[in-house]
Amino acid sequence: MARNSAQWHEKPKFPNSHFVDSRIYTDDALFREEQEKIFNKTWIIACHESEVPNVHDYRTFNHPGGAKLFVMRGDDNKVRCFYNICPHRGNALLYDPVGNTKRITCIFHAWSFDAKGACVDISRGKAGYQDRYGCEDAGLREVRTEVGFGGFVWVAVDDGACTLNEYIGPALELLGDNLNEPLEVFHYHKAVVETNYKLWHDTNSEFYHDYMHYFNRATGMLQPGYFDRKYTGYANGHASVGSMSVKYDAYDGSKARAVGWPGLAPGGWVLIDIFPGMTYNLRTSVLRMDTAIPLGPNKVVIEFRGLGLKRDTPEERAERIRDHNVIWGPFGRNLHEDLLGVFGQGVAMRTGSDSKWVLHGREENSTIHDEVGMRHFYGEWSRRMGRAAYDPYGDNKLAKLERAA
Ligand code: FES
Ligand SMILES: [Fe+2]
Repeated sequence: MARNSAQWHEKPKFPNSHFVDSRIYTDDALFREEQEKIFNKTWIIACHESEVPNVHDYRTFNHPGGAKLFVMRGDDNKVRCFYNICPHRGNALLYDPVGNTKRITCIFHAWSFDAKGACVDISRGKAGYQDRYGCEDAGLREVRTEVGFGGFVWVAVDDGACTLNEYIGPALELLGDNLNEPLEVFHYHKAVVETNYKLWHDTNSEFYHDYMHYFNRATGMLQPGYFDRKYTGYANGHASVGSMSVKYDAYDGSKARAVGWPGLAPGGWVLIDIFPGMTYNLRTSVLRMDTAIPLGPNKVVIEFRGLGLKRDTPEERAERIRDHNVIWGPFGRNLHEDLLGVFGQGVAMRTGSDSKWVLHGREENSTIHDEVGMRHFYGEWSRRMGRAAYDPYGDNKLAKLERAA
């Protein structure tokens, strides 16, 4: 029987951890708070070391906390990150998304900086500032940067944040042997989707939606081992889904993947979600990295990188590129199915459709269709925000009754 308005708003008959209030996906003020309490306090992937391979290569990065940054490789080969802001009067320094320059010269009044962020020239400095201000006062704002866990360039805008190792903890141990060799990005693309970033991360945190994926139903869900995969939650909101072997030959038009990956069983698949919006997805021959960079509560840039081994022969690389692009990348169907799913959620939640509750209530012993991965994420989200995801403003009457009881 269909439900009337009162029934539709009834609190689900689950524990409070098993559903969330849909306003956490649409509310502008909550999003600003997420920038402050989540994105500006955690380690975020800006890019991969292979995207700045040479001395003086740079790449700009819009940090999800809002800061405009750029990553640059110094003459000492070290990768650093800075605010893309001139210390003089706040002009943007670099405009191209990628490039190579020995000196960064601000177009406004021609102050110059080197690749380590030191100011090397203030035009007519002495004439205007005498001895009151000089290059030593005018370095760029450096952002803590570490390269690791597969050669990714991680940044933390909060100088007081824990170390990257502390932040990741044991969450990437399942991939330990798979990330020992230098990697290289061979494919990058991005999708701009009108939805909330958490909804994308949700698709990487639950596999019940394999019903949406024709390909996964054939290669995964119908194969032995699929329902044995278990979620493991780690501190700081990270989670992994155990490995399984994917039967690619179960899908017409596909075949067993030949190239493989060091330390991974043939057809192996390991997926690890890193809070708040990054996913390592190692499938057989390709590592796919998803990074979700929100532009607001209702808009997200999702970056997709396909990585192979730096030492690949041209033939091996061609095989990885084909596997990535035709199955998991822009020319496959999985990605578009996922994008359709999160776009549909975004439309429903922000258009006043009265979508009040979002259920995360499946329990199947932490196996693949259990929604424990999302519950783990929202547990961490609530902790960092100081707000319950099921009742973010404390105005939920039913929740209040429950608290009073
Ligand atoms: S704002 Fe950059 S030199 Fe003036
Ligand atoms: Fe999916």
